[in-house]
Amino acid sequence: MSSLRPGASPSDPYATIAAIYDAEFSDADADIRTFARDMDGAARVLVLGCGTGRVSEALRAPRRTVVGVDLSAPMIARAKVNAAQSVARRAGGRGDTGTERPGDIEYVVADMCALEPLGLAPFDAAVIPNAAFSFLTSRRDQLRCLAGLRDLVSGPLWIDLPMPDFALLGAPHTPEAPAWLGTVGELRVRRTREVWRHPVQQRLSLLDRYYHADDPGAALLAASRLELRLIFPAELEWLLEVAGFYADAMYGDHAGGPLREGCPRLLVRAL
Ligand SMILES: C[S@@+](CC[C@H](N)C(=O)[O-])C[C@H]1O[C@@H](n2cnc3c(N)ncnc32)[C@H](O)[C@@H]1O
Repeated sequence: MSSLRPGASPSDPYATIAAIYDAEFSDADADIRTFARDMDGAARVLVLGCGTGRVSEALRAPRRTVVGVDLSAPMIARAKVNAAQSVARRAGGRGDTGTERPGDIEYVVADMCALEPLGLAPFDAAVIPNAAFSFLTSRRDQLRCLAGLRDLVSGPLWIDLPMPDFALLGAPHTPEAPAWLGTVGELRVRRTREVWRHPVQQRLSLLDRYYHADDPGAALLAASRLELRLIFPAELEWLLEVAGFYADAMYGDHAGGPLREGCPRLLVRAL
């Protein structure tokens, strides 16, 4: 827990919470099943905003190379540790050092809006999971990201975003409220969330604070301010088309449900 510290860096809100992120999202896999079903035969898969590798590691497979890109060096450092542990677990499970390779994984600290200078080889499929695209708060950055992808990806591109609705864009300010309770290592941790909403700009500011769950008087463990841009379905279709993609299918949740009032996700498969 040594990497927990109060005070979020505005340029990397995940720097303070990389150690907690895995614990908080360890049960999330419905999105992964959807992506994995569409990756049959894909020899190279790109994951943008890969964080600590939750999705990239799960998409790893024999005869496939997965490349994960993230702006946050602490998140990538953890992704590399997670990848090494996963290889060790698989080898241990087989009781040998492993002749069947689990597939390669490479991690890069970089901005998903500046893919060209990375000189990456082409990909068969790409994923931008769990609201990572929402962190691109300007049209310029959104289009730079998609244009960079258009040059690199020949197969499906999945983008998973929260669906904007009145609950998300309603009251201007929701004070600090309980949002998550979990275990990080040996420590029980609770997260609260304070939200500011800017409906005209379609922006959300989230202030996440992490505390010892069993010691209400204890100091803050970490805090993180997340700035998100909400994107409506028609906007995403337009962005994709400008960049040379088209929206092949759009879903309202990770089970493939339709887009409709109140659906939780805006999940797009683009070609
Ligand atoms: C909500 S996390 C998602 C992490 C992981 N993909 C998952 O599904 O668990 C969003 C991630 O997007 C990354 N991110 C935000 N802006 C980025 C950018 N411009 N380029 C690359 N990564 C970015 C953050 O550092 C963070 O790790």
